[in-house]
Amino acid sequence: MKLLITGGAGFIGSEVVRRAIKNGFHVAVVDNLSYAGDLERISGVKEKIIFYRVDISQRDALHSVFKKETPEIVIHLAAESHVDRSIIEPQAFLHTNVMGTFNLLELSKEFRIKRFINVSTDEVYGELGEEGYFTEESPLRPSSPYSASKASQDMLGRAYWRTYGLAVITVRPSNNYGPWQYPEKLIPVVIAKALNNERIPVYGDGRNMREWLYVEDCAEAILMITEKGKPGDIYNIGSNEERRNIDVVREILRIINKPEDLIEFVKDRPGHDFRYCMSIEKIKKEIGWSPKTGFKEGIERTVRWYMANMEWLNAKINTLRQYWQRVYKKD
Ligand SMILES: NC(=O)c1ccc[n+]([C@@H]2O[C@H](COP(=O)([O-])OP(=O)(O)OC[C@H]3O[C@@H](n4cnc5c(N)ncnc54)[C@H](O)[C@@H]3O)[C@@H](O)[C@H]2O)c1
Repeated sequence: MKLLITGGAGFIGSEVVRRAIKNGFHVAVVDNLSYAGDLERISGVKEKIIFYRVDISQRDALHSVFKKETPEIVIHLAAESHVDRSIIEPQAFLHTNVMGTFNLLELSKEFRIKRFINVSTDEVYGELGEEGYFTEESPLRPSSPYSASKASQDMLGRAYWRTYGLAVITVRPSNNYGPWQYPEKLIPVVIAKALNNERIPVYGDGRNMREWLYVEDCAEAILMITEKGKPGDIYNIGSNEERRNIDVVREILRIINKPEDLIEFVKDRPGHDFRYCMSIEKIKKEIGWSPKTGFKEGIERTVRWYMANMEWLNAKINTLRQYWQRVYKKD
C-alpha cells in the first residue's frame, strides 16, 4: 500500500512515518522543511522513504508528486502548528492549513485517492469549563487563528466527502508530547529551560488544563484509523490524562531535580482556552484502540530523551531565539 504523508519531517508526522515503514507501507513524504521540520527525525528510515521538499500551498509542485507517486492513501499532517505564532503571524496559517489542505483535497479527488486522513485537532472544539468533555458531535468553536485554520481544514475535508465522495476520515488528537517535539510547545520549553537553569514562563495562573497524549500512541491511532476507519467519520484521539499546566511544570522539575522557584507566571495568552478534554469511546469501540502510555511514564521517557539529546535541543533553542528577536524588533 502506497502512502503519501505530508508533514512527515515534523514531530507527529515523523513518528507516523517510522511506524508506517515498520508496518510495511511504501512511504513518500512531502514536507517543505519549515522551521519545525527536520529530516534528522526520520534519518533512521531515510533509505526506505521517498522525500519531496515541497510546499503544500504550491499546487503544481504537489501535482508532480501525485503524478510520480500515485499514492493510494494520503495522511495529511503538514501544518503551521503553534498557537502563539498564529497570534503574531496568522497569514501563514491560512496559507498552509487552509490553502494547502485545499490543494491536497483537490489532487486527491483528481488522482482518485482511496483514503484521505485529515489530521485536525481537539482545539477546533474551543474551550471547556471545569466539567464535561467533547464528543465527535460537539460543535466547532475555535478560539485562535491556529484553531480557526484547523477548523477550516477539518470542515473542508468533510465537505469533500459529502460533495464529491472523497473518502476523507477526520481525526482530532489532543495535545501530544514526546521525543523530537520542537521546543516552543509547553513540555519541551519547560524541559529546555529547566535543564539550562532558566526562568520557566507559565501563562496566567497555570490552572489551564490539557489532555496529554504520548506521540507513539497518537501515531498508532492514526495508522489504525487509516486501516479501519470509516470514510466520512470523525475520530477523537485522546488519553483522558488531564493535567493543569502548573502540575506538568512541577512534574518536570521534580524529574530533573530543579527548584520550583524557577517558575515565573507571565501575562496570559490572548484567547487562551481554559480546558480541552475529549471522549474516546468511539475510537475504543469502533477501532479497538486505546492509549498505552500513562502520563507518568510518558513524561519520564520524554525528559530522559531530551537529556540525552541536548545538542539537538539547544540548536533548536538558538533558531527559536532568532525568531523571537525578529518579532520583538518588529514591534
Ligand atoms: N502537536 C500536537 O499536540 C497536535 C495536537 C493535535 C493535532 N495536531 C496536528 O497534527 C499535525 C502535526 O503536528 P506536529 O505537532 O507534528 O507539527 P509540527 O509543527 O512539528 O510539524 C509540521 C510539519 O509540517 C511541515 N510543514 C509546515 N508547513 C508546510 C507546508 N506549507 N508545506 C509542506 N510542509 C509543511 C513542517 O516542516 C513540519 O515538518 C498538525 O496538523 C497539527 O495541527 C498536533
